Amino acid sequence: MNRLKEHIFMIGFMGVGKTSTSRILSKKLGVKENDTDAMIVKQEKKSIAEIFADEGEEYFRKTETGIIDKLAELEPCIVSCGGGMAMREVNVEKMKKIGKVVLLTATPETIYSHVKDSTNRPLLNGNMNIPYIKKLMEERAPKYNAAADIVIETDGCTPSQVADKIIDSL
Ligand code: S3P
Repeated sequence: MNRLKEHIFMIGFMGVGKTSTSRILSKKLGVKENDTDAMIVKQEKKSIAEIFADEGEEYFRKTETGIIDKLAELEPCIVSCGGGMAMREVNVEKMKKIGKVVLLTATPETIYSHVKDSTNRPLLNGNMNIPYIKKLMEERAPKYNAAADIVIETDGCTPSQVADKIIDSL
């Protein structure tokens, strides 16, 4: 029997640990895990960077919305969302209809240490530095906070500890 009554959507800034935490959380809870970026890559048969370059950000954002509709057809699971998923109100509404939204947070310094060698994050192309990350995080924070049912601080925690914090607060 599925131990979840509804989906758990993991949101938060790029590099905060949504993917690694989701994988561990899904193991701890014995439920499936899905990653919206991975679902988009599979559906579009292109990398995230290629989609941004060929089709543009707006196309990517619309595709993200369609992915939530696909997830609504699946049994409750852990969903690791792309960092921009909660920026669109329509996405937040759709997520809240079918699940709980968990926001992971970290300092810009921690985020930078996780993303600095990344080549598949088009929004940080040419801007891979702490001041830019901090600025983008500040711009996004109101929407992330408004979307969140649960907020989990991750600094100094392993993904396993973050997963335990989430389980405690469910
Ligand atoms: C994005 C985050 C990325 C990916 C895309 C856009 C964003 O996912 O969806 O590059 O707008 O924050 P991660 O948060 O997994 O890096």
